[in-house]
Amino acid sequence: MMHIIKICCGCSCAANFGLDNLKKAEEILGIKAGDTSEDGKFRLEKAGCMSNCENAPNVMFCKPNGPLATIMLDGKIEENLLPNRFAKMLKELKNS
Ligand code: FES
Repeated sequence: MMHIIKICCGCSCAANFGLDNLKKAEEILGIKAGDTSEDGKFRLEKAGCMSNCENAPNVMFCKPNGPLATIMLDGKIEENLLPNRFAKMLKELKNS
């Protein structure tokens, strides 16, 4: 099943390691924002403000299980997700 990783790059998240999260994800997954991995397991996206700035940086993990329009509703936001913890989560997901 595909995982869609949406990294908030809004002002608050960008100022609180959000761009580092994006860089980590690109390194770990070997793709750039807007791309899907060759095995189709991951899609990486830059996202705008998720209206959760007080808990920056935020990353949304989505699994499409229906029409694309429902993805945002199915996503789970991980709050205060600093780069080291994010990298650990991504590596675990990649190896699962
Ligand atoms: S800038 Fe990331 S939630 Fe607002």
